[in-house]
Amino acid sequence: MAKPKLPKPGTIEVNPSILAADFAQLADELAVIERAGVKMVHLDIMDGHFVPNITIGPPVVAKLRKHSKLFFDCHLMITDPRKYAPAFVEAGANNLTFHIEVEKKPAELIKILHDMGVTASICVNPETPVKSIEKVAPLCDMVLVMTVHPGFGGQNFIASAAKKIKTVRKIVGPCVRVEVDGGIDVKTTPIVVGYGADTLVAGKAIFSKKDRIAAINALRIASKQLPLES
Ligand code: DX5
Ligand code: ZN
Repeated sequence: MAKPKLPKPGTIEVNPSILAADFAQLADELAVIERAGVKMVHLDIMDGHFVPNITIGPPVVAKLRKHSKLFFDCHLMITDPRKYAPAFVEAGANNLTFHIEVEKKPAELIKILHDMGVTASICVNPETPVKSIEKVAPLCDMVLVMTVHPGFGGQNFIASAAKKIKTVRKIVGPCVRVEVDGGIDVKTTPIVVGYGADTLVAGKAIFSKKDRIAAINALRIASKQLPLES
């Protein structure tokens, strides 16, 4: 099977987070979102240490890989991304996102990830300044701005954190994807797209709805609306 690729910057991509999906039916959930025409899926990996919740590890990613051709965007909310990165790559991850809050030598880790054949993304928590990633952000394929405190789905969007997207976009220019994660729905989508986000992670807004395909289409429509504020 050809390796799925990160969509080239320049398009808006809805990136469903399976955290809000039915974990007992993950293969079916992936098949449904694939039918909606999404290119990527966001897999939230939590270790119960960096964040106060535990989700899935490499064995589950490996099983899902057998059921899906989607680009696997793995968000590592873990204390030691260096240690576990090879296992996730082996399992079939296509992008690995690590948090700047746990990495002292981010440029080195980005190179390690590229050498392993995956794309690399760096993430900032709501309280983490963009300054902390200023130098390394342009080395990444994608930068992730958290608009909730990581650990749980279904939280309220933090508007002040979303404003950092504008600065990130200025730093990286048009050739790096800017992803946003947390509280993304039809109301917040126009705001974050207006700031320069092009990769929209959404859990509750998709998987709490009976019709996942209609929910994905609603987000696509919202991404074309003008924001009420900027
Ligand atoms: C939160 C995760 C998110 C989460 C978003 O720690 O990183 O990806 O699934 O969920 P919603 O879209 O429900 O806020
Ligand atoms: Zn996430």
